[in-house]
Amino acid sequence: MGKQTPPVCSYEGSDYQQRFWEAGGRDYEDAVEAIALKRLLPSDGKFMLELGAGAGRNTPRYQGYDRVALLDYSRTQLEQARDRLGLSDRYLYVAADAYHLPFRESLFDGATMIRTLHHMADPVLALSEVRRVMNLGGVFILEFANKRNFKSILRYWLGKQKWNPFSKEPVEFAELNFDFHPKSIRGYLQENQFTIKKQLTVSHFRVGFLKKNIPTALLSKLDSLLQWTGSFAQYSPSVFTRAQAAGESEKGLPVDDIFRCVSCGTDLEGFGHDLTCPSCGTIWEYRDGIYDFRIKSNL
Ligand SMILES: C[S@@+](CC[C@H](N)C(=O)[O-])C[C@H]1O[C@@H](n2cnc3c(N)ncnc32)[C@H](O)[C@@H]1O
Repeated sequence: MGKQTPPVCSYEGSDYQQRFWEAGGRDYEDAVEAIALKRLLPSDGKFMLELGAGAGRNTPRYQGYDRVALLDYSRTQLEQARDRLGLSDRYLYVAADAYHLPFRESLFDGATMIRTLHHMADPVLALSEVRRVMNLGGVFILEFANKRNFKSILRYWLGKQKWNPFSKEPVEFAELNFDFHPKSIRGYLQENQFTIKKQLTVSHFRVGFLKKNIPTALLSKLDSLLQWTGSFAQYSPSVFTRAQAAGESEKGLPVDDIFRCVSCGTDLEGFGHDLTCPSCGTIWEYRDGIYDFRIKSNL
């Protein structure tokens, strides 16, 4: 606890959902992600953790799970998700840093991280936190931005891009925005006791000209036909991986008391109100349906 972790890419106050998805001409990307998720998600499950849930764009796609915890560092993103999905026993809204998850061990039998690893300067640490809170055998669906994609390879060969798409290290193309090499991601997952079960390549036709001139339904269909090639080659800008939590952890089941103190690691008790850590005395706020486990000095 208290370990120094990389800075968080802030979405506080951002209109990301409206600007990028609703007004940004991204129907194709949304459609092909929905197809990939449908192919990778188990038909049922108990408790899903959605890391970097944002405004909850993907949350309705997790219908097979009894409960979903939406975790995001941005409170305003979660407010949008809450306004869209409503307050109920089904959804838990948690403002927290993915590097410091406020959950007890072995809690979730499902987890997703879509368009979020993209912002992690220390992906290994982030994935180790995911593994810690997952049940043995749980399914983790990870999307990552692939640095070794057709466009970046072409740009590199034409001399229009300096960084090498074939080298294993991540590339930070803008502050706190990273693209990863597929081989490195496989290594990070294995290092954290995840066994990779399936890979799908997604968004093969993410090119303005194609999106403008070919109907979304047709482009999505073509993408859907190519997604399966991800098992043996990954050259699309986005890759979805289905991994299973392996190794040592206990097989746990969701319980009522699920949180733990982010400052000192002590288990917390209670639900639906502010939570006070019995060990270090930190008070974690619960307001308007959202738990806040962000360390105040980092805000
Ligand atoms: C590009 S958005 C994706 C949102 C959603 N997954 C989607 O696909 O629509 C990335 C999200 O990750 C969140 N995020 C970035 N770094 C984070 C961190 N360290 N801990 C928790 N959330 C983080 C941001 O606040 C933002 O909502």
